[in-house]
Amino acid sequence: MTLQDRLRAQAEQCALHGSPLTGALLFAAADDYDAGGPTYDLLSPHAEDPSGSVPALRLTGALHRLVLERRAPELALHYPSVGGLPGEVWPAARRTIAEHLDELREHVRRPVQTNEVGRSAALYGGLLHVGGPVRLLELGASAGLNLLVDRFAYEVSGEVLGDPTSPVRLHEPWRGRLPTGTVEVVERAGCDPQPLDPISAADRLTLTSYVWPDQVDRFERLRAALAVAARHGIAVERLPASAFLERELAEPRSGVTTVVWHSVVRQYMAPAERERVDQLLTEAGERATAAAPLARLSLEPVQGQFRFLVELTTWPGGRTRVLAEARGHGPPVEWT
Ligand SMILES: C[S@@+](CC[C@H](N)C(=O)[O-])C[C@H]1O[C@@H](n2cnc3c(N)ncnc32)[C@H](O)[C@@H]1O
Repeated sequence: MTLQDRLRAQAEQCALHGSPLTGALLFAAADDYDAGGPTYDLLSPHAEDPSGSVPALRLTGALHRLVLERRAPELALHYPSVGGLPGEVWPAARRTIAEHLDELREHVRRPVQTNEVGRSAALYGGLLHVGGPVRLLELGASAGLNLLVDRFAYEVSGEVLGDPTSPVRLHEPWRGRLPTGTVEVVERAGCDPQPLDPISAADRLTLTSYVWPDQVDRFERLRAALAVAARHGIAVERLPASAFLERELAEPRSGVTTVVWHSVVRQYMAPAERERVDQLLTEAGERATAAAPLARLSLEPVQGQFRFLVELTTWPGGRTRVLAEARGHGPPVEWT
């Protein structure tokens, strides 16, 4: 697919999933790319970048960063994340791209670095399916917010699951055959080659820049989760998934289920890294026993599609089940 087609495909998804502003911006950016405008100057060096690295969201994140830094006042007028009102966003966006081209070139090289708290709605339900005490290991944990899965509140059918006092509240995030039981996380650890620190102003800026600017509820959820993380001092280790798993899965652990969780990470891994992660999990699965079970829980897109599945593989046995279909940012999670 050409780069401009990828911009349009992402635009459609944004428009469909609650961000008409990002949709409008990306549709117009694709036309501008075709016309050889500033978007072409900015993005043509990335025409061959892998689709999974999502150049469209690198562009919108780079623009949003300027807005959040209060350095693009004309564009900010249209960004609800800073009090603006959506409207004719493209003329201002085009001028902003032309004015800040050199700096934006730096920023669009950066990978998309989100930490989407809504995905905890899938993780929490997945952990209910697993049951019992859990040792939670997260691959691609970013700022580690979803490692705090049990410190958030989930309002489900009028009941509150998780921590009812939490400032992070997910309102009716589930549909279908709702999982039941309890979640008990007794140990948690995460890795990421580029971990973010929830108390660093620079890292908070990075995280918020990738939130779609007209999705103010996601913004509020992220800010509340950053506050919870600052209180709990969660640290993510600077390691790729394979090195982390090699160490963490070297020996089976008795008395807990070791759950390896990842959400929207696979597409950002090099193919060899993906294969190594699969291999390490399969090998550790062969060593797992009823007293030291292992599970892999994930929320990942179906390759080449904008559909997201929650899948669970459990060992001993290595049985894989699709537990739910979700949205890219989590809710609604439709349990099967
Ligand atoms: C789109 S973000 C998702 C972050 C988080 N899992 C979430 O759902 O909010 C993708 C993350 O994958 C991380 N990543 C990329 N390559 C990785 C690797 N080899 N091992 C672990 N994480 C990786 C990136 O640094 C980034 O934090």
